[in-house]
Amino acid sequence: MIQDEMKRAAARAALEHVVEGRIVGVGTGSTAKLFIEELAGMKDRVAGAVASSEDTKKRLESHGIRVFDLNEITDMPVYVDGADEITPRMHMIKGGGGALTREKIISAVAGKFVCIVDGTKLVEHLGHFPLPVEVIPMASAYVARELVKLAGTPVAREGFVTDNGNHILDVRGLRILDPVDLETRLNQIAGVVTNGLFARRPADVCLIGTPDGVRTMSAD
Ligand code: A5P
Repeated sequence: MIQDEMKRAAARAALEHVVEGRIVGVGTGSTAKLFIEELAGMKDRVAGAVASSEDTKKRLESHGIRVFDLNEITDMPVYVDGADEITPRMHMIKGGGGALTREKIISAVAGKFVCIVDGTKLVEHLGHFPLPVEVIPMASAYVARELVKLAGTPVAREGFVTDNGNHILDVRGLRILDPVDLETRLNQIAGVVTNGLFARRPADVCLIGTPDGVRTMSAD
């Protein structure tokens, strides 16, 4: 099975977690895009969606799915999104597509985070994928120097501006031994909006597309 088929199988399996009549949170990226296509098939059975990026908003609307502002919502049963890496402890690196801040906000509101990936995203330890850090533009150089002090090698994502008007530093070389602690510490650097570690609020369920079908991994 090719990678896209495995992603689509995971995306389709996520429909079982969508709560009928309610609003669903929708992530960003190539796997989330496939989820939107699958969700379109049950659009009359959901109240609408909250989008984690302008791109996702456009895609949802193009399928006739109503998009709500997060501030209109007090609770949301489920958020569905991909990941760049995920461990058996359900910690993730996200933000390869640059939507990490909105993704983190929506996942904080959601009752359940359903992660959809193909098997290549499953890792024992986070950190092979460079960690995205969203920064306020005037703080980019300062934050980069602070990341170097932590043994990281930050590279500014060229020509990229987030939906929030900020910049992204992609950081290699960090030793991510304690993802919860590192997530917190990086967010303490002045000028950091957020970082792509999703460990304080890990996924609750991960649907992994494999050549043998979709495997479900759950938080203990
Ligand atoms: C978007 O900012 C990211 O967090 C994506 O969710 C993540 O990069 C996974 O993307 P793909 O499904 O394209 O691999």
